[in-house]
Amino acid sequence: MSDGYRQLLDATIQHLEGLKSRGVRHVAVAPETLRALALPATAPARFQISNSKSQIQPAVVPPKIEPTIAMPPKKIAAPIPVVSPKADVSNLKIEITSALPGKAAAFTALRERALACVKCPHLAASRTNVVFGVGNIDAQLMFVGEAPGADEDEQGEPFVGRAGQLLTKIILATGLSRADVYIANILKCRPDTPGQSAGNRPPTPEERATCIPYLQEQIDLIQPKAIVALGATAVDGLLGKTLGITKLRGNWQTYRGIPLMPTYHPAYLLRNQAMSEKRKVWEDILKVMEKLEMPISAKQRNFFLA
Ligand code: URA
Repeated sequence: MSDGYRQLLDATIQHLEGLKSRGVRHVAVAPETLRALALPATAPARFQISNSKSQIQPAVVPPKIEPTIAMPPKKIAAPIPVVSPKADVSNLKIEITSALPGKAAAFTALRERALACVKCPHLAASRTNVVFGVGNIDAQLMFVGEAPGADEDEQGEPFVGRAGQLLTKIILATGLSRADVYIANILKCRPDTPGQSAGNRPPTPEERATCIPYLQEQIDLIQPKAIVALGATAVDGLLGKTLGITKLRGNWQTYRGIPLMPTYHPAYLLRNQAMSEKRKVWEDILKVMEKLEMPISAKQRNFFLA
């Protein structure tokens, strides 16, 4: 093995150990790197000598690879979870507090399990962060959405993109803040979109079924007085039925004994800016405020009325 190659190897090992000591459990590995690792050790591709005379030859002499150090091809059993160490905020210590003894510890343990989840290997490989949930674990009101989008995946927090900003406005319009409620999704990882640089897709039934126990445990621990299910995926995921969001919205349902209000997803309101649609969502929220015996001003009652 050449000195240069050995130095590179040592530096890589040192770097990985440094990351490990800082609590990073996964590193980004590009699919082509994985494929290269599965091959017997050979000269790095940029050192490969072209047969064509017209191609510029590399200035560095390729390291001599001794046959004795060639490793047998490694088998890749399953996709390796890929998380960019730079953007991975899952290790950040977040303070979870509760007025009830043991609740914060149980919630923290649940969060840690979810952050380490690799039950959907394809999502574990594509995600930047597990988007567990945010807010007050003693909240009376909980919002449940579909799945993280690109912004949420990046920041590790649900509803921080455009739809999230609208949800924040809806919450503020009730007189509450994001810190007063709890916000989570059916799926904790961003649904991957292989081969696409942008766009989202809804979670598959398998992904939903795999992930829903985390949300169930969150709800069981929080015990909100009401849940707002945002959009068809959230409603179907929680109620296990597909009656259609248009039929269900505005009508109280029950999830494990907790009143559940289905309403449109804020992303729908971004696509359809009609005042009438905004009013429908607001009427659903007014019903929730009534259920929670929150004060409602005349001004609030009249939002989005012509
Ligand atoms: N849409 C969702 O359903 N959830 C998010 O967290 C963001 C957008």
